[in-house]
Amino acid sequence: MTTRMTDYSPDFDTLEKMEWAFSKGDVAYISKVLDSRPSLVLRIHGVCMLADMKREDAIPALARALREDPSPLVRHEAAFAMGQLEFKSGVPSLLEAMARDESVLVRHESAVALGSIGDERARPGLMTALEDVDEDVRLSAEVALADLEFLRRLRTRTEIQPIAETGQLTSRKTTPAKRQVERPSVRVPRSKAQPAIQSLIKTGILDRQFSVITDDQTVALPLMRDPNEIEIDELRKLVPSASLGVEDFEPRKRHPRTFEEALAERLSPDILSRLPKSFDVVGDITILELDSGLAVYETVIAGAIMEVHPNVRAVFAKSGEVSGAERIRPLRYIAGENRTHTIHKEYGCLFKVDLSKAFFSPRLSTEHQRVAQMVEKGERVIDMFAGVGPFSILTAKRLDEVRVEAIDSNPQAVELLQENVRANKVESKVHAHFGDAREVIRKELFQSASRVIMNHPSASKDFVKEACAALQPSGGTIHYYTFAGENWETDSRNDIEHVVKESGYVAERVLGIHRVREVAPMRWQVAVDLEVARGQ
Ligand SMILES: C[S@@+](CC[C@H](N)C(=O)[O-])C[C@H]1O[C@@H](n2cnc3c(N)ncnc32)[C@H](O)[C@@H]1O
Repeated sequence: MTTRMTDYSPDFDTLEKMEWAFSKGDVAYISKVLDSRPSLVLRIHGVCMLADMKREDAIPALARALREDPSPLVRHEAAFAMGQLEFKSGVPSLLEAMARDESVLVRHESAVALGSIGDERARPGLMTALEDVDEDVRLSAEVALADLEFLRRLRTRTEIQPIAETGQLTSRKTTPAKRQVERPSVRVPRSKAQPAIQSLIKTGILDRQFSVITDDQTVALPLMRDPNEIEIDELRKLVPSASLGVEDFEPRKRHPRTFEEALAERLSPDILSRLPKSFDVVGDITILELDSGLAVYETVIAGAIMEVHPNVRAVFAKSGEVSGAERIRPLRYIAGENRTHTIHKEYGCLFKVDLSKAFFSPRLSTEHQRVAQMVEKGERVIDMFAGVGPFSILTAKRLDEVRVEAIDSNPQAVELLQENVRANKVESKVHAHFGDAREVIRKELFQSASRVIMNHPSASKDFVKEACAALQPSGGTIHYYTFAGENWETDSRNDIEHVVKESGYVAERVLGIHRVREVAPMRWQVAVDLEVARGQ
C-alpha cells in the first residue's frame, strides 16, 4: 500500500522565503503570502509561523485566515494559533467563527481558544455555543466557560483547590482512563439535572471527563473536587434536594478524530496497519482503495469514515483501473447513499461531478490551480481534454479577459462541463465543444491559441501534432501531461521534445517539469510546461 501525496515541491522556494521572513520577524511578508491564498502547505506553515512570532500584529492576518480560508484545516490552525497567542484582539473573530463556521473542527477550536484567552466578552457567545448542534463544540464551550470562571476566581482571589488536584483546566487534551474512577459527586432528581449542570458549569467544578450516571429517579454528576461552601450554596439555590457523595464514574468516550482512532477498538493491530493512509474525497463521496484482504472489513471501515467525517454521505471502493477513452474508473458501492454524482468545490469554483459518467480526480486540484494562475490577461486557451471543466473554469474565473475553448469527446463530460460553466457564471469566457480534439482543432481552432492544455496523460503524445497546430503563428505554451517511471524527468522531457520536432515544430524552452501525483508505485503523472514555436 502506498501513500498518495500531492507534490508540494514547487512551493519550496516560497517556503524558504517565508522561513527567512520568519527569522527576521517579518509579519507583513507572511501575511501577504497567506492573503495570496497559496497551496495548503504554505497556508498551514504561514499560520504556524505567525503563531510562533508571538506578536499581536499577526492577529489581523490570522483573523482573515480564520474568516476566509477555504480549508477547515487552515481555519482550525488559525483558531488554535489565536488561542496560543492569547491576545484579546483575537476574540471578535473567534466568536464569529465559533458561531458561524460550517466546520465542527473550527467551531470547537475557536471555543477552546476563547477559553485560553479568558476574556469575559466571550461569555455570552460561549453560552450560546452550549446549544451547538455538535457535542464536541458544546463540550468545548463548557470547558471554555470553566476556564473563564477559573480566571475570574483567580482575579478575585477566591479560595480554590490546586490545579494539580483537578487536572482539568490546564490540560485540555487529557486522555481519559479506561476503568471506572471514584469521583466526588452530586446526585439530583432527573428533572433537576439541567439546572444542576448549569450551576456546576458556572462554578467550574463539573468534571466533563466522566459520564453522568442515571437511574429511574436520579442523576449523579461527577465533580472535579469536593465543592466548597459557596459552590454548595449556589447549587442548592437551584436544586435544594442535591446530595453530595462519592461514586464510581465511567470515563467519557471521546469522539474519534481520525478513522483509525474510530476503528482502534474494532480491528486488530495487524488489520489497522494495512488501512489506507489516505483516501479521495469528491464532494460528499469518499473513494477508498483497499487491498483485497481488507474487503471483508470495508463496511466497518466505511462506517468509521462516516462517523469521523459527518459530511461524507457515500463511500465507494475502487474496483478497477481508470480505463477507456473517457478515463472512468469502475467503483463498487460500500455504504451511505448509493449515488456517484455530487458537487465538488475547488478553489472557490463548484463542479458537478458524476464519477460513473466522466473523469474527475480531486488529486489534480493543485495542478488545475497552478495552470490557471499561469494564464495571462487576453490569452486564448484550448483545454483539449477538458472533462467536467476544472482547468477551463478556474482559468476563466480568475481573469476577466480570457477565452477558453474546452473540448471533450465524452458527451456526458460535456454535459457536466456546460452545467459547470453556467453554475460558475463563466458562459461568456468558456466555450464547450463536444468531439474529438483533433477534429475540433482542425475544423474550428487552427492557429488560434496562445496556450494548450493536454491533460490526457495516457494518450497526450498522440495529439501533440494537433496541439502545435492549434497554436497561433507566433507560437505559445503547451502544458503536456504524461505518465513516467523512475527517470520521469528525462523521459518526459525527451518524449515531448521528440514529438514536437517530429510534428515540424520547435520545442524552444522547457518552462518547468514536475510530478503531479503518484499513480502506482514508482510511477507518476508528470507535467511539462513547454514553449513551442513554428518550424522553419
Ligand atoms: C484525464 S481526463 C482529464 C479531465 C480534465 N482535464 C480534468 O483535469 O479533470 C481526460 C479527458 O479526455 C477526454 N478525451 C479522451 N479522448 C479524447 C479526444 N480524442 N478528444 C477530446 N477529449 C478526449 C476524456 O473523455 C476525459 O474526459
